[in-house]
Amino acid sequence: MAKAKPLYQCSECGAQVPKWAGQCPECEAWNSLGEVAVTLPLIKGARLTAYPGEAPGDRLTPLEAVAADQETRYSTGIEELDRVLGGGMVRGSVVLIGGDPGIGKSTLLLQAAATLGQRFSTLYVNGEESLQQVSLRAQRLGIARSGITLLAETQVERVLETALRNQPRVLVIDSIQTIYTDALQSAPGAVAQLRDSTAQLVRFAKQTGTTVFLIGHVTKEGTLAGPRVLEHMVDTVLYFEGDGNSRYRVVRAVKNRFGAVNELGVFAMTDKGLREVNNPSAIFLSHHETEIPGSIVMVTKEGSRPLLVEVQALVAESHLGNPRRLCVGLDQNRLVMLLAVLQRHGGIPMYDQDVFVNIVGGVRIAETAADLAVLLAAVSSLRGRPLALGTAAFGEVGLAGEIRPVQNGVDRIREAAKHGFKRILVPKANAPKKSEEKIQVIGIGRLSEAMDIMRED
Ligand code: TYD
Ligand code: MG
Repeated sequence: MAKAKPLYQCSECGAQVPKWAGQCPECEAWNSLGEVAVTLPLIKGARLTAYPGEAPGDRLTPLEAVAADQETRYSTGIEELDRVLGGGMVRGSVVLIGGDPGIGKSTLLLQAAATLGQRFSTLYVNGEESLQQVSLRAQRLGIARSGITLLAETQVERVLETALRNQPRVLVIDSIQTIYTDALQSAPGAVAQLRDSTAQLVRFAKQTGTTVFLIGHVTKEGTLAGPRVLEHMVDTVLYFEGDGNSRYRVVRAVKNRFGAVNELGVFAMTDKGLREVNNPSAIFLSHHETEIPGSIVMVTKEGSRPLLVEVQALVAESHLGNPRRLCVGLDQNRLVMLLAVLQRHGGIPMYDQDVFVNIVGGVRIAETAADLAVLLAAVSSLRGRPLALGTAAFGEVGLAGEIRPVQNGVDRIREAAKHGFKRILVPKANAPKKSEEKIQVIGIGRLSEAMDIMRED
């Protein structure tokens, strides 16, 4: 294909110019011109691989005539991955898996490809490592007969050509940052390249019904615009979260057209690859022999299963004009707000204290159900007095000092009881009238009541 002349488009007004300039000649915005592909060539010869009972065509279809079960799901053989995908992979869908370098993206997808390869033809495109390196990894993972085909290639047009010839059902791209299109002159990894290559891969997926997995790196500095610009183009976005230092890896669905978001999949990195963790509650708790100040267990439920996590707080006298508020695994602004509520409605000021809060195990908690536990941990640390051993808590704290109910209260209480907790502090509205569980449920209406309970401990 002849190389097309580059074209630049203003991200502010959409004007297109043949030559790059620092300022858009139309709307005079600075630094808004970016390279775009002149035309996206149609993928010639791409045909939907028909599944039984399907008639691919371009007719208009009444909604009722569409069989809902056409979105058939296939298991990847890894239960935790199926869970974050919303119950298995959907054919023709495009899944982006992002995460820091070295966190385990290639490992996870090679493992998934190995099981998928036994049932579907699977093409693993590698632009990062040599085929020998992939084979070494496969050996380490104990993958013997997999049915995976490997391709070392970085130009998207050639990747698609090969894919059209071999018609894989599953296509893995490792990684999208190394893939480039000939239609653009910028270097691989540039935003325009990422956008354009992904657009071609997405169209290939939709035209052929192939499931495409894209691996994307996120750099800490954010120098590379990274896969974030791709999020709106794909169907599902999964992120590896937490630090690479811990043995455990948490994969979260942040966008899913075919399932719930915030679903978590938990893995442990072993010397034989990623192993599924089916009972994650057990691993996020550090088991204390005795009660310690500043620590409490909360029950989070993001996605379909409740999870017990330990919230730790350290409150120490501050010698700074602006005392520090630092969070790991939690929104910092939320902490600042909670401390203000604590001062106003709990009567406990912390303006002269540094406050550090950590969610143990590298999970991130985005839901407000952590509020009560955070404040209990902070107060416990301030006073140097622990809560009674075997206490858990959850609940949202409102600005008026009220404890607001959260969703799935019963599930959360049950999870705590299952793991042997003796007592749980919950929002009053979440407390069941009578509970069969072997756990004491204490319903709390206001923050001051929680403070009273702590005083008795
Ligand atoms: P990798 O999947 O290459 O990361 P990514 O593709 O996200 O960059 O994983 C690399 C890390 O995982 C590396 O530090 C080694 C470790 N690892 C294991 O601990 N056990 C294994 O079986 C494998 C394959 C990797
Ligand atoms: Mg990799």
